[in-house]
Amino acid sequence: MQVPVRRLAFAGAMLCLVAWPAIAQAPSAGAPSSEAPSSGAPSPGAAPRIDAQAAPSSITEPARAQTAIGRRGMVVTQEKRATRIGVEILERGGNAVDAAVAVGFALAVTLPRAGNLGGGGFMMVHLADRNESVAIDYRETAPRGIAADSFLDADGKADPEKSRNGPLAIGVPGTVAGLTLALERHGSGKFTLAELLAPAIALAREGIPVEDDLLDSLLLAQPRLARWPSAAKIFLKQDGTPLGAGDTLVQQDLAHTLDAIARDGARAFYTGPIADEIVAAAVNSGGVLRRSDIEDYMPVVREPVRGTFRGYDVLSMPPASSGGVHLVEMLNILEGFPLRSLRANSPASLHLMIEAMKLAYADRAEYLGDSDFVDVPIELLTSKDYAAELREGIDSRQAREVGSTLPDPPAGGGGNTTHFSIVDAAGNAVANTYSLNFNYGLGLVAGTTGILLNNTLDDFAAAPGAANAFGLTGGALNAPAPGKRPLSSMTPTIVLKDGKVHLVTGAPGGSRIITTVLQVVLNAVEYGKSIGEAVTLPRVHHQWRPDEVTVEKAMPAEIVRALTARGHNVRFGPAAGSAHSILAIPDGYMGAADQRARGSLAAGY
Ligand code: DON
Repeated sequence: MQVPVRRLAFAGAMLCLVAWPAIAQAPSAGAPSSEAPSSGAPSPGAAPRIDAQAAPSSITEPARAQTAIGRRGMVVTQEKRATRIGVEILERGGNAVDAAVAVGFALAVTLPRAGNLGGGGFMMVHLADRNESVAIDYRETAPRGIAADSFLDADGKADPEKSRNGPLAIGVPGTVAGLTLALERHGSGKFTLAELLAPAIALAREGIPVEDDLLDSLLLAQPRLARWPSAAKIFLKQDGTPLGAGDTLVQQDLAHTLDAIARDGARAFYTGPIADEIVAAAVNSGGVLRRSDIEDYMPVVREPVRGTFRGYDVLSMPPASSGGVHLVEMLNILEGFPLRSLRANSPASLHLMIEAMKLAYADRAEYLGDSDFVDVPIELLTSKDYAAELREGIDSRQAREVGSTLPDPPAGGGGNTTHFSIVDAAGNAVANTYSLNFNYGLGLVAGTTGILLNNTLDDFAAAPGAANAFGLTGGALNAPAPGKRPLSSMTPTIVLKDGKVHLVTGAPGGSRIITTVLQVVLNAVEYGKSIGEAVTLPRVHHQWRPDEVTVEKAMPAEIVRALTARGHNVRFGPAAGSAHSILAIPDGYMGAADQRARGSLAAGY
């Protein structure tokens, strides 16, 4: 596909090119900090520690990371029980994929707002013995009954009620197919699916205390869950208030469903009574999902998007996610700048990063969609030449005006998806991000299955230029169509050094996922931060439209002032996604559980 040379829709762009020596004179070129664990670091298996990580001054709302060291491997997830299940599988000789499958099913029980059977996602796998990486795309697909105009109102305008809050929003779930495919292809062979499901089944049946993120998210999602009696029955009390501190969440129906999957594999989900109940839930509420849509669902094994950055290999997710393409595009642009000497989170380095974000998100809106349906110029967008051309247009002192704002700021917060990272003793790695889109998805539980259904079809461009819930726009390439996957931002990523796993990362956060992952990668690889600090440092985000930089509240005021002085429209926003990550260290791995949402745990073995 021929892609025009630069054609950005920026209005009033002022190209004032500044030679790089000007940047080199920017404030204080201090040496990047390196926090390799010292003799005081915890021993493998020791209780995890909470680090108030070194961070810029005048923090008002410090993010934290809980870190742990593993000599052989590491599991980092949003929920402590799921992490422990993953570590146990590794200790019993399982590989990273075995552990990922056990964790993926466990989170469907212990983190029901995002962990799921009724949604979809993406898994990056690195196989050490073959030095090979694969990308498993188990994104939801649109049912056959979805058409280009499905999410429009009578006036032909995008209707968010339809794409976010009604049954038309339900995509065909991909998670069960994706996790079982990963196990069949890349599991160690030492565990049956039933063995990996057993801990999740026990937790569903016996129940878990309502605490941490479960407690927080149930409070927020109460109105969504109250709309559906099948969901209210599980997550709310008789008086309609959500289960709270001191209560136990028991999910008997979900335990039955998991039992059936343990017995019959993915078939149980896609062809049996479970599929019938999912269809009935959709049809009875006015949806178009049919049995044949579910039966025909296929996860896809794809070639990862590949990039390099300062001699590291970056492997990330191709379409139907936009994550890998734009992560590599931004890294390519930024590789040409002396970021390291500018220091992490200095006004000068943040400015360059923000400018790269604008360019990448403009391309996202124009060129990205499901590559099984439309041509996506992946090679071009991820090429060094293209990045060099874009870099030429960046002014190191002045923000480029985008010239357009959306009437509504993005609605999405930072937590409705979940990412986990795993490395095993053989050097295999899994980066997995999956989602129901919103907290608890649509909020609808399918009949007596215990399965919460997604509202992921909102990630399509409902109309050309219409924004999804995260403020992302698109056009024909991401238009709804039968069987098509809506464009995602999920960015599970593995960074290799000399063929060995160096960094495993990813994040929730809707549109902010890609920029969160960018900042974790830069913090760890470019600035040499410890993984705890890499995930803790306050983050910024720009997505081209609206023309504003969202910064976390912990960003020091003097930095915000300096960005404003460069012409950025700065807005304080909510915390940006929990980026649970792993970094190789001498003699093992350090994991960092991002505490932006409560309850996460990094644990090594
Ligand atoms: O696939 C996507 O990009 C979105 N459906 C992800 C949603 C999300 O991360 C919400 N969490 N904050």
